[in-house]
Amino acid sequence: MDISGLKEKVTSEISSVKNIEDIKKVKVFLLGRKGLFAEFLDTLKTLDKDLRKEAGRSINELKVWTENKVKEVETLYEEQEKIKREAASWIDVTMPGKTPLIGKKHPITQTLEEITRIFVSLGFSVAEGPDIEIEYYNFEALNIPGDHPARDMQDTFYVAPGTVLRTHTSPVQIRTMESQLPPVKIIAPGAVYRCDHDISHTPMFHQVEGLLVDKNIRFSDLKGILSMFIGEMFGKDTTLRFRPSYFPFTEPSAEVDMGCVICAGKGCRLCKDTGWLEILGSGMVHPQVFRNVGYDQEELTGFAFGMGVERIAMIKFGIDDIRQFYYNDIRFLSQF
Ligand code: PHE
Repeated sequence: MDISGLKEKVTSEISSVKNIEDIKKVKVFLLGRKGLFAEFLDTLKTLDKDLRKEAGRSINELKVWTENKVKEVETLYEEQEKIKREAASWIDVTMPGKTPLIGKKHPITQTLEEITRIFVSLGFSVAEGPDIEIEYYNFEALNIPGDHPARDMQDTFYVAPGTVLRTHTSPVQIRTMESQLPPVKIIAPGAVYRCDHDISHTPMFHQVEGLLVDKNIRFSDLKGILSMFIGEMFGKDTTLRFRPSYFPFTEPSAEVDMGCVICAGKGCRLCKDTGWLEILGSGMVHPQVFRNVGYDQEELTGFAFGMGVERIAMIKFGIDDIRQFYYNDIRFLSQF
């Protein structure tokens, strides 16, 4: 092959290229270490000096031209590849995204947090106790001995002899007073358990206990604090009624009703036509309870209350079946 034959070969090889792979192969074929140009230059050795110089220059010129041409074609196909790649991975940033389902706090959690917020703003701190409680804290220390009829008020789950699932948050009163000196100003939110299940009872529900102990605490302080709480929770115009009642650990005791938020006192299904909704039990701490924890009952007085959180949530959200809270039906829960 002479030099014009080589040029023809080069041109036809390059023009046959259709894609990036082709040009890579052609590049090796023409310019590689054992490629056409290398082979051609090798044959120069057989020529004599003058001819070799002449031919060498022409071949090198052709080689440089080929290198440029190959580079040019290579760049072209690389560009095309890049455009293809980008098209394949193109993201339309204007498309609406997939909105992840965002969880919400359970209505009972929301209510517990709201109750806690209000009492913390009134200077109460939060205390806690165990759900699995010894009988002494759940009953005896609260002035409810074993044969006391008040034990029947609460259908107790026994876990082991002497150990119960707490039936109320009141044992936290005892634990707190045992572990700290007066004055005491706490609330104790948490789960409680009773063997009971119908439209207005679930075996597990929640209470918020309150306890304020100091010198000169009077029943009017209890009324004042609870009125402020109800006003915050349900609105300033909500009416309250203190009804004499009985708890072994308070004396005097009162149950507190609020005016029905649905019928405003006229009577409806929620308030069972009474116009009132019972929301908590309360009273002045019984001197025997102070004695049980080693507090000076001559010097100290205090009030305590315990409210049902589900009850408050039902009133707040207008729900008439307490069991709804625990079916875990997302259609129900997502409404809050
Ligand atoms: N522990 C009582 C109950 O569960 C409520 C209560 C608490 C009453 C504190 C008086 C004082 O019914």
